[in-house]
Amino acid sequence: MSMEAYVNEAVSKFRKLLEEQIERSEKMRTAPEKKDFSKTQKIVVGTIDGDGIGPILMAQANRVLKVLLRDELASGRVEIREISGLTIENRIALGKSVPDDTMNAIKECDVLLKGPTTTPKGGSMESANVTLRRELDLYANVRPVTIPEENCDWTFFRENTEGEYVLGSRGIEIPDILTMDFKVTTEPGTKRIARTAYEFARNNGKKRVSIVTKANIMKKTDGSFSAICHEIAKEYPEIETDEWYIDIMTANLVNPRIRNQFEVFLLPNLYGDIITDEAAQLQGGVGTAGSANTGDRYAMFEAIHGSAPRMVEEGIQDYANPSSLFRAIELMLRHIAMPEKADALSNALTVCSETERRVIVTGNKDGATAGEFTDYVIETLIKANA
Ligand code: IPM
Ligand code: MG
Repeated sequence: MSMEAYVNEAVSKFRKLLEEQIERSEKMRTAPEKKDFSKTQKIVVGTIDGDGIGPILMAQANRVLKVLLRDELASGRVEIREISGLTIENRIALGKSVPDDTMNAIKECDVLLKGPTTTPKGGSMESANVTLRRELDLYANVRPVTIPEENCDWTFFRENTEGEYVLGSRGIEIPDILTMDFKVTTEPGTKRIARTAYEFARNNGKKRVSIVTKANIMKKTDGSFSAICHEIAKEYPEIETDEWYIDIMTANLVNPRIRNQFEVFLLPNLYGDIITDEAAQLQGGVGTAGSANTGDRYAMFEAIHGSAPRMVEEGIQDYANPSSLFRAIELMLRHIAMPEKADALSNALTVCSETERRVIVTGNKDGATAGEFTDYVIETLIKANA
């Protein structure tokens, strides 16, 4: 192909991307009404195993769900629906990041509990997570992290449907010369994540929201993210707003002198992805933090970590830590208006990781297995309820 032909192809591709993104942005202006789960007769929870350590952790999550939701499952108020087909083998065979049958089944659920899914590096297959977040319009990625001994209580609000992710599999390549990816920030997309973060702050007695960007370099996208968030901040005058660049914020989180002063973080997609792994590691490991992906119609709850193919290769998959997925269950229970059950699980997890009879999951053969840890969690839940 001649250079001219490459350029023409890229330009027409770019026009299409632009038109699609304008259309997506317009659609966002009419949000569907949120479901009030306290009034919903029946709640359908879809469970998705995922890849790698996913099925092992999800088996344990199912045990915990059955204990916590015993009455609701018996009465039919809650239905747990196992959703198949979201394995890397099936996705590769069908050439679809989320196969159609699986997507249809998912759309019939209210909320999802999902194990980690493997994302192929390179190629054009999109990450299943990215597809699900886009197709279900799960625009808020909410990740709580605490370091109790230091009084750190952080909640990250990561924009989850745009930024570097929305066109991450649709960049441009001119072989042997250059490659180019795109980053997108829309006005309605930024407004809705900013509102979600500020509403959370207001409803939970938080006094400070920290916006995190790299607006000195990403002038258009992060520049407008910053400006729009500050605009929304004016609707919440009781809350203090500050702004940091992502590089220094990454340093702040490892600075014990100041890190307990932060409360709520509001940030674009990729920075949110990176910094929440750092935060989870500070809390005790990426195996310890839960992640809520919420939108107006659907919500998906998952572990913060990936499918850990290395653990499977080394044969230590049974030693993976299910805590992160259990924290996801806690977030899910709060979302479906069952806060007492969420608190019960949270207390049991705290007891199981802090008491003398600690069953420590190290992620290796010197520690407990996911099943042993779950036995302890269930025993603790039942004891607390007795
Ligand atoms: C996360 C994960 C995902 C992401 C991957 C699996 C696509 O790292 O949920 O943080 O990058 O968002
Ligand atoms: Mg991540």
